[in-house]
Amino acid sequence: MASEFVIRDLRFEDFNDLVNAYFSYYDESKSNQNLGITLFKRKPTLKEEVAWFKEMYVKVLDGDVIVKVAEADGAAVGLCSVTRQRPGSERDHTGVLGIAIKKAYRGRGVGRALMESTLKRCKGTFEQVILEVFESNARAQSLYKKMGFKGYGKIPKAIKRGERYINVNLMYLCL
Ligand SMILES: CC(C)(COP(=O)(O)OP(=O)(O)OC[C@H]1O[C@@H](n2cnc3c(N)ncnc32)[C@H](O)[C@@H]1OP(=O)(O)O)[C@@H](O)C(=O)NCCC(=O)NCCS
Repeated sequence: MASEFVIRDLRFEDFNDLVNAYFSYYDESKSNQNLGITLFKRKPTLKEEVAWFKEMYVKVLDGDVIVKVAEADGAAVGLCSVTRQRPGSERDHTGVLGIAIKKAYRGRGVGRALMESTLKRCKGTFEQVILEVFESNARAQSLYKKMGFKGYGKIPKAIKRGERYINVNLMYLCL
């Protein structure tokens, strides 16, 4: 596996790789109960993924989401997006951040590079960025703090995974 990666804009042909990455998180969650992204109770169908990708792509064209992709070994292996809150409302100066990288590519600087690039691109489009992170997700919180995010609260039991509850921390960054 190559240790090199590039961070770039989303392309229409990333669909297969990104669905592949997203489905891998469902497989991973079977052995890693602490996987730090919010999952649907039922793994989405390919048809639902087509709808998700189409919606995201349209939002990119409308300037309502900033998306960056990490590419390694010839495939898209990570995605970071900042989505405008309620376009047209008094909240639309704020973006909501999400990030995930395929398991095999974590812990080698891809997340940091992906976030830096995405946040840089957010300037001029959003005034602030907010996110939610599982209280148990030390790596993600360490990364967010390094990017300048500040904590502003906690939602106890925000996630119910099976019979287990997970607290979620809230963070914000003024651009
Ligand atoms: C969270 C995630 C995006 C981070 O990306 P990554 O490529 O693994 O992170 P990086 O290698 O760039 O490391 C980021 C920072 O975290 C720190 N870090 C790495 N592993 C860590 C660990 N186990 N505990 C604490 N901090 C850690 C590193 O010090 C690094 O800082 P540095 O650049 O100053 O050295 C990635 O691990 C991931 O996709 N995880 C699963 C999905 C997820 O949790 N998404 C976040 C939802 S809120």
